[in-house]
Amino acid sequence: MESAKLTLDPAFEVGPVERRLFGSFVEHMGRCVYTGVFEPGHPRAGDDGLRRDVIELTREMGVTTVRYPGGNFVSNYEWEDGVGPASERPTRLDLAWRQIETNAFGLDEFMTWLREVDAEPVMAVNLGTRGIREARDLVEYANFPGGTRWSDLRIKHGVPEPYGIRVWCLGNEMDGPWQIGGKTADEYGRLAFEAAKAMRRVDPGLELVACGSSNMRIPTFGSWEARVLEHCYDQVDYISAHSYYDPVGGSRADFLASAVEMEQQIEGVIATADHVAARLGSRKRLKVSFDEWNVWSQSLFRGEGSLDWEHAPRIIEEEYDVAGAAVVGSLLITLLNHADRVGIACQAQLANVIAPIRTEPGGPAWRQTIFHPFALTAAHARGRILRVQATAPAMPTERYGEVPVLATAATLDDDRLAVFAVNRGDRPLPVEIDLRGLPQASDLSHVTVADDDTGARNTEREPRRVEPRPADGAAIDGHRLTAVLPPVSFNVLKARLS
Ligand code: AHR
Repeated sequence: MESAKLTLDPAFEVGPVERRLFGSFVEHMGRCVYTGVFEPGHPRAGDDGLRRDVIELTREMGVTTVRYPGGNFVSNYEWEDGVGPASERPTRLDLAWRQIETNAFGLDEFMTWLREVDAEPVMAVNLGTRGIREARDLVEYANFPGGTRWSDLRIKHGVPEPYGIRVWCLGNEMDGPWQIGGKTADEYGRLAFEAAKAMRRVDPGLELVACGSSNMRIPTFGSWEARVLEHCYDQVDYISAHSYYDPVGGSRADFLASAVEMEQQIEGVIATADHVAARLGSRKRLKVSFDEWNVWSQSLFRGEGSLDWEHAPRIIEEEYDVAGAAVVGSLLITLLNHADRVGIACQAQLANVIAPIRTEPGGPAWRQTIFHPFALTAAHARGRILRVQATAPAMPTERYGEVPVLATAATLDDDRLAVFAVNRGDRPLPVEIDLRGLPQASDLSHVTVADDDTGARNTEREPRRVEPRPADGAAIDGHRLTAVLPPVSFNVLKARLS
């Protein structure tokens, strides 16, 4: 049987585990907000309408950071509609997803929910139909202590202390022809610069994210980032990347190797940003905010034009299988291995819409298969990320050529070692881990997300069909750990070093 070999040495590391990599995304889209996180009258909702079952699952998942309120939604959104007395809020048309938006949930509800899940906000401003003024007003509402028009309005709404929101996205996917108020790179670059300047005058402590390309296959990928950053490099801290990996748009091997594409994208965005830094003679380095990523059968989506005007419609409620969980695990591994330059990542989205958490109105909430690799990685990736030296058998793919069957990352937190590993192949994969310069290991454990049927899913009827389970046979022999990874699986090996 072919096997893989990993070598770990504490002298070689990527950097610290950035907790903001375990971010998620709540958009006013489909049932992510309404009947997802927010459902007044639901048996598990409090007086605030927030579903406690979803809060508990979000905490269990280990989500650290949540992007809000969109997505395409934000480019036609008026944030003032979603604050103040609920009875006075207007119902509006959302042009992004053809939704009837009641505004029953807005910034103040989101921040209340966020406190419950113990996560940090990543707030997006509308640079589609709106501009500098509304963006700066929102920063004033959220972050200014008081004594001004917008900060006093927040206080009047019952929030005396400023929210202190640090991270802000300057619009969303402004390169996309589908975006309401989309822009050319020059138009957007200038607007991002001016909006950032005004927002920073209100609160100098902000961390700002400029919009990169909406995906890597768009023809302007690379040139968009370069042009935009020529305008706003000095005013921003991050450049965004988005990508969805399609289980039905290509071959199965291509899908299982999706992380190769994520890696190419991260490296391409970093190279472009560093090129602009060199041109501008800047020593500052930007980080990537990979603030939309997930598995999504996007090729099956017929576009927003196919939707009817509805409130909280069932849009892209993807059901995930074991292969989807393995791919999500390999994407998390890729983010960890690039944590020296990726500072934020948000899985899109949190509830119902291409999401790890599914809910039914008035009914239960449950974990999709992709919940598990996220929760396991967020729980066990602590301390420092080691640079893993790996050799593994290769598998052929149409899109990326020969790709290693193994994707892996490792973290070390004092005496706790965690190795994250995805077997993309259809055969069990024996792995040997050489601990080289590390102390002796003990208490080795191996959990896996796998199933004899890689198409197995969790459903309302069978919500626990796919769960992490202990795997047999992991062993320690001196400075050598051995284990066998099941076919198409996500795995975590943990050991104590002393
Ligand atoms: O997450 C779904 C949509 O995908 C977002 O609204 C948009 O930003 C992206 O194209």
